[in-house]
Amino acid sequence: MTATTLKRPAIGVFDSGVGGLTVLRELLRQVPQADYLYFGDTARLPYGSKSAETVAKYAISAADFLVKQGAEHLVIACNTATALAFERIASAVKIPALGVIEPGAETAAAASKSKQAVVIATEGTCASHAYKRALAAKGVEAREKACPLFVPLVEEGWTEHEVTERVAHIYLDGVFSGDFSGADALVLGCTHYPLLKPLLRRVVPAHVAIVDSAEATAKAMAERLDLSSASSGQPLVKFFATDSVDKFRKAGEKFLGCKIENVTHVELES
Ligand code: DGL
Repeated sequence: MTATTLKRPAIGVFDSGVGGLTVLRELLRQVPQADYLYFGDTARLPYGSKSAETVAKYAISAADFLVKQGAEHLVIACNTATALAFERIASAVKIPALGVIEPGAETAAAASKSKQAVVIATEGTCASHAYKRALAAKGVEAREKACPLFVPLVEEGWTEHEVTERVAHIYLDGVFSGDFSGADALVLGCTHYPLLKPLLRRVVPAHVAIVDSAEATAKAMAERLDLSSASSGQPLVKFFATDSVDKFRKAGEKFLGCKIENVTHVELES
């Protein structure tokens, strides 16, 4: 009898920087039967304020890199890249790709009884209306609100700071009002926002469900993979960053919630 080698899928996870580690964190929790390659394009972030053309070009080069490293599935953890360039990235790589918007919208649609949701995201994601379209397809009306200061505040580690709470009130107090006073779901449409969940819980009305696209994406990945023959054991994770590996490690540990080793610097052609 020949022994069967059990195969663990290799999942490439791509983001503009360390924020996508919130998605990797959920993947490690929900899909521990896979191994991971994480790419943070730290030299070229932020993506949230860039054009669709630029984001698509950067994202495709990063996705190509992950495929060359052996990725068999691609998770586009960056909301902005998913919003602005999902189709282009997915058709440029020859492996199955999953973005964060469809799973986030699906979870929000399931959570919302009033069929009205608020989406908070970067300028780029909001301007693309990708969440609005995805939610409309599921019968949910969306109000989008760009919250560009949240990314630098989270990167500064100010996830429980009074300044961040004030900023959150300024962004959100007027949003759950008027036509949207009955909205009962808040979609966290940016990699960094899951770290603000406890603070946002205090800022938005109590009846509002907070929907984390990172959690939803990991769940969608678990449903997509046939893991019945995957070997058990700890996931192997390799990290790649286009800027300083030390900076990536230091900033990344806050997002991943554990130690980061094994970071390789990558120079991508521009
Ligand atoms: N990763 C981006 C997103 O989820 C946020 C950071 C950036 O603007 O690059 O939209």
